[in-house]
Amino acid sequence: MSELLKHFDGRAPKIAIILGSSLGSFADAVKGAIRIPYGDLKGFPVPKISGHAGELVVGKVGGKEIAVLAGRAHAYESGNPAVMRPVLDQIKAAGIERLILTNAAGSLKTSIGPGSIMLITDHINYSGMNPLIGGHGDENFVPMTDAYDPAMRKALLKAAKAEKIPLKQGVYVWFSGPSFETPAEIRMAQIIGGHAVGMSTAPETIMARRLGLKVAGLSVITNLGAGIKGASPSHEETKREGAKAAERMKTLLTRFFKDLK
Ligand code: HPA
Repeated sequence: MSELLKHFDGRAPKIAIILGSSLGSFADAVKGAIRIPYGDLKGFPVPKISGHAGELVVGKVGGKEIAVLAGRAHAYESGNPAVMRPVLDQIKAAGIERLILTNAAGSLKTSIGPGSIMLITDHINYSGMNPLIGGHGDENFVPMTDAYDPAMRKALLKAAKAEKIPLKQGVYVWFSGPSFETPAEIRMAQIIGGHAVGMSTAPETIMARRLGLKVAGLSVITNLGAGIKGASPSHEETKREGAKAAERMKTLLTRFFKDLK
């Protein structure tokens, strides 16, 4: 039995979700929850930034057994884009098959305003890093076509429709951070086909696809990218706007889990 599964007290979730900045309150929706601090789990990184709890919660949402990773570590905290690798390796070993990644992001389109939720259709890795660098073996040449699973995307769109939650769709551009982008970088990200910018998710998608996990991604848009209509993003704004959208995100995800086959 995997080390992680031993902590699950007989529960066997097949789907996991990583909660992004200020979406931590979703963990409160978990029924009959077991809570395990990341510090008690071997190899789990303890997030150092505010807005990230650092706790694994296992229990039911929408009647389905799920594993909630409340808090992530980011590449910019240490310079290591593979910082979440032990987490992904261990959830895979514990039997997780599908993974939902959530984040806070800045918008590149005025039609996707602050407070919107965006379903990630694809990503652009603009960080110059890749979490698989240094690995050997053919399995590292991971195909990234349909990295964001079409069936999970379809189910999320259906759940949004059922709950009357507007769900935008677009391409997420990964910048390393932690500084926010310059207005010139935001203009470039618009030109190369992005819809939102953020500092996470893409490395986790790459590692999860290497492990054969199916992935979906959801961004909470907390601000317009730097320079758009005079926007000047900050961490405070990210946390405040993220918390506001959290309730709708909870409704969307609960419906998704409920309808999950
Ligand atoms: N840029 C990058 N990451 C972010 C932003 C942003 O504007 N807002 C929230 N996370």
